[in-house]
Amino acid sequence: MTVVAPRAPVAVRLNPVVLPGDGVGPEVTAAAMDVLAVVAERFGHSLDPVSHDIGWVASVTHGVSLPEATLEACVSARAVVLGAVGDPRAEGAPAERRPEAALLALRKALGCFANLRPIKVDDALLDVSAVRRDLVEGTDILIVRELIGGIYFGEPRGRKDGPGGVMAFDTMAYDQEEIRRIARVAFEAAGERQGRLTSIDKANVLESSRLWRETVTAMSPEYPEVSLSHMLVDRAAMELITRSRDFDVILAPNLFGDVLSDEGAALTGSMGVLASASIGGRTGLYEPVHGSAPDLAGRDLANPIGAIRSAGLMLRHTYGLSHEANAVDAAIADVLSSGLRTPDLEAPGTRVVGTGAFGRAVAQALSNPHPDRQS
Ligand code: IPM
Ligand code: MG
Repeated sequence: MTVVAPRAPVAVRLNPVVLPGDGVGPEVTAAAMDVLAVVAERFGHSLDPVSHDIGWVASVTHGVSLPEATLEACVSARAVVLGAVGDPRAEGAPAERRPEAALLALRKALGCFANLRPIKVDDALLDVSAVRRDLVEGTDILIVRELIGGIYFGEPRGRKDGPGGVMAFDTMAYDQEEIRRIARVAFEAAGERQGRLTSIDKANVLESSRLWRETVTAMSPEYPEVSLSHMLVDRAAMELITRSRDFDVILAPNLFGDVLSDEGAALTGSMGVLASASIGGRTGLYEPVHGSAPDLAGRDLANPIGAIRSAGLMLRHTYGLSHEANAVDAAIADVLSSGLRTPDLEAPGTRVVGTGAFGRAVAQALSNPHPDRQS
């Protein structure tokens, strides 16, 4: 499969399904849509989004977290832009009302087996990184996380009575084809970047990890331009902090990729700046890595960068508009270097604004690009 769609002809109809979801989802998604509107205007495309409910808001209105109408719209769309799912009120709710269950079911239904999570440390944000500047400067990693297999979906799972009371269990399982298809995405991405691929597993303990390592190793000769190494997940957790610059592409099973990508957020200074693209099926799913952050919801405090960057990934991966996607990234960089920040990125000498104002600043930077970047 190709990771990036081929360059599209002149005018494109951008018609994503938009799922604002829970918590800060609606605010960050609105900012992303404002930016997309400016992209459409500046580059001569049209924007024609349609919104649907997902998550706890859907449970409250429709009784289920993934309503049939939402699923149908997503399955027949080329792209889905999602805000966030999750709400503390959902605790203890039955499966069909749980916000996270909707997201997992959607990923599965769309066949989005490859989750791409770029972790690039912006120069303007070096001082807010949780890691020392001299260690983190220049970090530019792509995490390729397997998204619809492994312990998230393995069977059997459940509870039963045992000698020690109730026992709960999950299954971590992968077959060779599932490993090969995600590894292919990672090898190809590494080939287009620095040519270094680190595959993550726990092969010293887990059987599924031994098959993972064996299968990835066997594919390596097909990609002579990529140098492959393997790393145990515990060591990777350490090296991601101490030697983040040494990583180029990281390939990881579902659970390990979930954990390591949040660690990546600590490198960038805030979870709010990270974006993701979930691809592999007919529909691409684009969502920021941060969650619903209920404590920030409705207060104009959330960072919209992750959502805006996710919309940029949609331009690149679904619509083949790399030039436009680069313009979005450049506009974000311009706004950050002007000193504007959302509260999560506050540092001496910066000016803190809300979600809406930050989004508008990005839109503004995009309609009046920096003179060096005009095209
Ligand atoms: C993520 C999130 C999700 C995951 C949750 C919300 C189900 O943590 O996208 O990283 O575990 O995949
Ligand atoms: Mg996560």
